[in-house]
Amino acid sequence: MKLLAPSILSADFWRLGEQVNACVEGGADIIHFDVMDGHFVPNITFGPLLLESIKKHCPLPLDAHLMIEKPERYIPDFIRAGADMVSVHVENTPHLHRTLELIRSLGAKAGVVINPGTALSVLEEALHYVDFVLLMSVNPGFGGQKFIERSLQRLRRLKTMVESIKPEVIIEVDGGIKEENILEVARAGADILVVGSGIFGTEDVKAQTRKLKNLITSSEAS
Ligand code: DX5
Ligand code: ZN
Repeated sequence: MKLLAPSILSADFWRLGEQVNACVEGGADIIHFDVMDGHFVPNITFGPLLLESIKKHCPLPLDAHLMIEKPERYIPDFIRAGADMVSVHVENTPHLHRTLELIRSLGAKAGVVINPGTALSVLEEALHYVDFVLLMSVNPGFGGQKFIERSLQRLRRLKTMVESIKPEVIIEVDGGIKEENILEVARAGADILVVGSGIFGTEDVKAQTRKLKNLITSSEAS
């Protein structure tokens, strides 16, 4: 089952509730939250308070992608606020096993994120302790960037790694996914596809969500 996760980073925050509702009505499966602190990445976004507000009205699982320094400090807050999935970057989490165990001990799904310039081999041990891997296909920090082409080969190699080490691990791909390349990314092995500007940068969020969801569902048929 391929899942669509709209990233609200590119949403119109004046109409955020309305736009999240449009994603729900358009058939989205998960809502992706890009949490940034201006240190790990050169941008600042939002914290647990936003998830708390959305959680009250949104029936979908909330996916907190932590692009922050020392993420372990805030994991309890994000899970208390309603995060069902929490991912931390392998590049800035030296005590990765302990951090992943913390996420799981608090009842959320644990994910490890890997940047485009980081070798996949660093995931070998972590795969035993995660529910999902978040493969970045752009450099983290901003929406609307171009999909890094080598990400497709990385995705295929990651899929092989997962199948040989822990087949139940879910692969989520994040960054630069649009109508034009979403089928290719789905077919290359993505289980969850994150789309930000490819949904919120369009006129009709509900219709665009529905179109992308139909595309990834069709990728399973062919
Ligand atoms: C980038 C974020 C991505 C991004 C996706 O740091 O992790 O989730 O918002 O946005 P698009 O789909 O516009 O690349
Ligand atoms: Zn993200």
